[in-house]
Amino acid sequence: MDFDLTDEQKAIRELARRFADEEIAPSAKERDEKEIFPDEILKKMGPLGFLGGPIPKEYGGAGLDYIAHAILTEEVGRACSSVRTTLSVHISLAQLTILKWGSEAQKKHWLPRLASGEILGCFGLTEPDTGSDAANQKTTALKKGDRWILNGAKMWISNAGKAELAIIFAQTDKSKGAKGLAAFLVERNTPGYSTRDIHGKLGMRSSNTGEIILEDCAVPAANLLGEVGQGFKVAMSGLDHGRYSVAAGSVGLIQACREASVAYAKERVQFGKPIAGFQLVQEMIARMRVSEDAARLLVYQAGHLKNRGRPDTIATCIAKYFSTEAAQQAAMDAIQVHGGYGYSNEYPVERYLRDARVATLYEGTSQIQQLIIGRHETGISAFV
Ligand code: CAA
Repeated sequence: MDFDLTDEQKAIRELARRFADEEIAPSAKERDEKEIFPDEILKKMGPLGFLGGPIPKEYGGAGLDYIAHAILTEEVGRACSSVRTTLSVHISLAQLTILKWGSEAQKKHWLPRLASGEILGCFGLTEPDTGSDAANQKTTALKKGDRWILNGAKMWISNAGKAELAIIFAQTDKSKGAKGLAAFLVERNTPGYSTRDIHGKLGMRSSNTGEIILEDCAVPAANLLGEVGQGFKVAMSGLDHGRYSVAAGSVGLIQACREASVAYAKERVQFGKPIAGFQLVQEMIARMRVSEDAARLLVYQAGHLKNRGRPDTIATCIAKYFSTEAAQQAAMDAIQVHGGYGYSNEYPVERYLRDARVATLYEGTSQIQQLIIGRHETGISAFV
């Protein structure tokens, strides 16, 4: 087992950290306060290859291995979780799903445009009444000639209001349940397709979240992604990538909590000495460091499996569950270290807590990750 990063992985860390420190972090507070989507940042990330990291070069990506992809995601997450969320959905849920399930023509048509940042992608699985029970899709797809007619609504979709391309999951035959689902590549300009932004979120306020409404939305048969009946597998395999990216971003968020806490604890003086010298403050900082290292190792373990093309669902669920819960705890501790100042937006840690909160919910709640892991260990499904 080799814990050293390759030269390429080290170079990605350096490049991504410099970019994140100079271009992402300085505007994070203002974008959060004013709910400004990071269009300008994304424009700069495209030419650097940051918007299609793990996509092979032949399809316009940077051809990064999955550890390097995690490192890049960590660095973005360390600077701003909203930008990281945008990337997690655009790269991991949208592009990697097309890479796995797309026909050669679909991959050649869509991936270069997505990887360069010419267009953004999103992943339309969740519905107003369908969250954890993802197989229970209410959106319908009816074949008419050489088109599929989609009707329904998608909810809490990251990038919905910005994406030119959505992967939409829909039911083609209710009697077949999960085996009736199909996935479609739907372009924003398709008649019957519209979106509505969601405002007032607790965190991730600089990311775009919205609803997608499908009203007799006619999609060419050529836009079917995978086969009819494979939709649930398409969704689950996409989530294997999306959850990995969320886990990596959470590692970056824990690191941000630790760094902010160490800096503050060294300058804040109480009882005549910096609070960094108090054992109970050190306890919180040590807890952040331990969870950061453990989360990072769990992410890289899943990345190692992905690099080798081996099943990674359980390793990814473990990494996502641990990292997102640990990020929440780290943000709570970071506020505690900052005392009253941590409760105001003078320091970034209150944003870290608000941003950390959703990662235990989206792309599968912590409870869903636990039940997938529990089923793997016991052989008994809690879902049936
Ligand atoms: N990759 C490929 N195939 C997979 C798979 C994977 N990771 N996991 C399961 N499958 C396959 C299985 O092999 C099985 O195939 P067969 O029928 O041929 O045997 C089939 O899919 C059914 O598998 P399961 O029995 O495991 O499915 P289940 O019904 O028990 O799954 C569940 C239940 C795990 C709770 C699942 O519904 C789930 O993960 N729910 C959470 C959904 C979620 O994370 N939603 C968030 C979406 S994010 C979003 O939409 C918004 C956004 O922008 C972020």
